[in-house]
Amino acid sequence: MKYILGIDVGTSQMKVALFDLDGRAVASATPAYPVYQPQNGWAEQDAEDWWNAAVTGIREVLHGIDAASIAAVGLGGQMHGLVMLDEAGAPVRRSILWCDQRTADECRRITETVGAERLLTLTANPALTGFTASKILWVRNYEPENYEKCAHILLPKDYVRYRLTGEFATDVSDASGMQLLDVANRCWSEEMLKALDIDRALLAKVYESPEVTGMVTEDAARLTGLCAGTPVVAGAGDNAAAAVGTGCIRDGKSFTTIGTSGVVYAHTSRMAADPAGRIHTFCCAVPGQWHVMGVTQAAGLSLSWLRQNICPELSYREMDALAEQTPIGAEKLLYLPYLMGERTPHLDADARGVFFGLSGMHTRAHLIRAVLEGVSYSLKDCQRIIEGVIGPIGETTVCGGGAASGLWRQMIADVYGCKVQTLRANEGVALGAAILAGVGAGIYPSVAAGCDRIVEIKEEILPVAENTEKYRKVYAFYDSLYETIKASYQALSKLEL
Ligand code: XUL
Repeated sequence: MKYILGIDVGTSQMKVALFDLDGRAVASATPAYPVYQPQNGWAEQDAEDWWNAAVTGIREVLHGIDAASIAAVGLGGQMHGLVMLDEAGAPVRRSILWCDQRTADECRRITETVGAERLLTLTANPALTGFTASKILWVRNYEPENYEKCAHILLPKDYVRYRLTGEFATDVSDASGMQLLDVANRCWSEEMLKALDIDRALLAKVYESPEVTGMVTEDAARLTGLCAGTPVVAGAGDNAAAAVGTGCIRDGKSFTTIGTSGVVYAHTSRMAADPAGRIHTFCCAVPGQWHVMGVTQAAGLSLSWLRQNICPELSYREMDALAEQTPIGAEKLLYLPYLMGERTPHLDADARGVFFGLSGMHTRAHLIRAVLEGVSYSLKDCQRIIEGVIGPIGETTVCGGGAASGLWRQMIADVYGCKVQTLRANEGVALGAAILAGVGAGIYPSVAAGCDRIVEIKEEILPVAENTEKYRKVYAFYDSLYETIKASYQALSKLEL
């Protein structure tokens, strides 16, 4: 019996999962670690915590398993985080995470230095606070002593790889989120490095996702229980890995994740970027291909916020049942889900959540329905922009915690006006990383062959034409609201109290 091991370096926890060659999860472990928020808008993690969690998780899933039966290990995880190591390979400071917002000034400087249009041509994306390049500049500006000590720059999952194999390596999908990769040509951009005065020697070697980047060392074997010499493949950033885990690896395929944040992801064999930079374009885990992706910052977060503050005694199932008693449009109550600012479609850190149209007749059932709809409209915004850039999306797979809601699944089908699928396995990132490991180990001849063998559809939901028509009217109104109040968001952010 052979197995493949997938490791997902998440933001709140690490998921280590062992799969058989048909993608069935045999064992999994999810050790957690803290996010440190030393200041408002900052988010950091200790790279050592990731490694300790990997060791604990791997030991746990190997319990009762012959380590020699692990064909290969694949890594996936949170993108963009800045890991700086000194000459000896020790972290010089805590890692600055994807959700950290401290680098608005550095982003402005990157745009001024490189030029907005050139930046889009080279890196396929505008300068964003989430991305790694601005974090590097921030450390250089504010902690020159740490920058001085820095000999290696890695991404979160690549630190775990370094501890497993001793290699400084990354993959094209995760590297795309650093804003230093020439995304069209899948290599470090000499022009970006020169413009930002970053030494290329600091950066890891870039691989395609299924390529083997090194073998488990004797030291790592002793700590984890893996066999020394087990191959570790490049893997992928969390969304590109989830795409493999959900079979979104061909043109026309897309998925929508309703997690804390929401993601609409579509595969494309033709590199294409949004001239307005409202969606991200990254290399994907299929060698030589790309993906585009829109992000709704507060998707599941909107619903969990509502539950926590308005109806903590209700389960999500009970909230669904209440929302179902309310008609489409929540009797003219709309919700804008910008609790954490917004990426797609507005790229506006000052945007805030709104209930619009509240009247005395509304109940909490209306609030719940409005939140479910508002998040769905925001995801539709992402889908609409993606379609404008790469062409029509005929179907989508829904995953993440929100996919557990039957009402939300049908709502997505109706609001998008397309077929929605759910999958048998809900392992997403870890399964995708494991499939890539299987390709690297020669078990599957290609990423597509691995997905075709493993990914199974559980349910298909068709849009109801009558509902789609009603949602279309409310969406048109929703769509106009942001422009109406945009200036007020800016004024609010400047309000001194
Ligand atoms: C992608 C992004 C998130 C992180 C954390 O651009 O910021 O998906 O990778 O999950």
